[in-house]
Amino acid sequence: MNELLMGLRAAAEPTRLRLLVLCAQGELTVSDLTDILGQSQPRVSRHLKLLCDAGLLDRFREGTWVFYRLAQRGRAGELARRLVELVPEADATLALDRERLAAIKRQRAEQALAYFRANAAQWDSIRSLYVAEREVEAALQKLLPATGLRDLLDIGTGTGRVLELFAPHVERAVGVDLSREMLAVARVNLERANLRNCSLRQADMYQLPLPGASFDAVVIHQVLHYAERPAEVIAEAARVLRPEGRLVVVDFAPHELEFLRTEHAHRRLGFGDAEVVAWCRAAGLEPGSVQRLPGNPLTVSLWPARRQALADAATPTPALAEAS
Ligand SMILES: C[S@@+](CC[C@H](N)C(=O)[O-])C[C@H]1O[C@@H](n2cnc3c(N)ncnc32)[C@H](O)[C@@H]1O
Repeated sequence: MNELLMGLRAAAEPTRLRLLVLCAQGELTVSDLTDILGQSQPRVSRHLKLLCDAGLLDRFREGTWVFYRLAQRGRAGELARRLVELVPEADATLALDRERLAAIKRQRAEQALAYFRANAAQWDSIRSLYVAEREVEAALQKLLPATGLRDLLDIGTGTGRVLELFAPHVERAVGVDLSREMLAVARVNLERANLRNCSLRQADMYQLPLPGASFDAVVIHQVLHYAERPAEVIAEAARVLRPEGRLVVVDFAPHELEFLRTEHAHRRLGFGDAEVVAWCRAAGLEPGSVQRLPGNPLTVSLWPARRQALADAATPTPALAEAS
């Protein structure tokens, strides 16, 4: 009852109701919201704090930026969603807010596109070295259960493609990436696809700002070859997996294309099965059968692994004991 009253009190003010409606339409910064509302930043920040304190909004940091979105979980999240549904669409103030938000999204999309264009030629030249992306995506989809996944994490999400692929089949999909520019591209793609259950965080794959055992599936797609310490990335992925959760690493099999290192910042020229399997075991994961998609000249490998069930975890298998 207290929680409900707190939520209702927080929402019962015109600017705060407008903020709720706006934050239901995507992840927005204080400066976005200040521009839309035409109010001073301290004022908007004060309203946002009240809404966050009541649990109606989630607040998260991406480097020096702070984003707000409608709370995703819990009763307060449900209350926030219901309140937004009750707000009349035709309201003139809200219509103007929507127009301003659309302009901000257009501007963001243009900036992201400019960055993407500047780098797209490089990415296309690498893509031409291996099998079509849709074949890799189809193989990846087969390795994760089609139903029953609640929370999925995509490490090094880039343009957010893996999120787009899985979002319709999961409750919540989270993408993390170190690059703010890539996250801007991903944000535009997810907004365009109208995927409301996806969120993005700027984060380092070695130190995910996420609680342990909070995801049913983790994907690391074409990211590990940038890692100086791939074993640690896999250990960090294993940490956030729930018991019986699945990890799929997608990357190149060992190759000799030295220019990928010198011109494209790859740290590793692919990975052998034995090393990936050993890293998975050391992280407490049980490796599955490796899938291979031969291309010319690069072969893509998909390494699936599963975190042990709680009961198994108490008594390590001989294979796990060897690896640790
Ligand atoms: C080749 S892209 C792959 C993107 C995406 N997974 C895909 O396959 O479409 C590699 C991504 O890894 C990200 N990345 C590199 N190092 C990272 C780190 N330490 N932590 C998080 N992301 C990282 C890059 O910013 C880039 O977006």
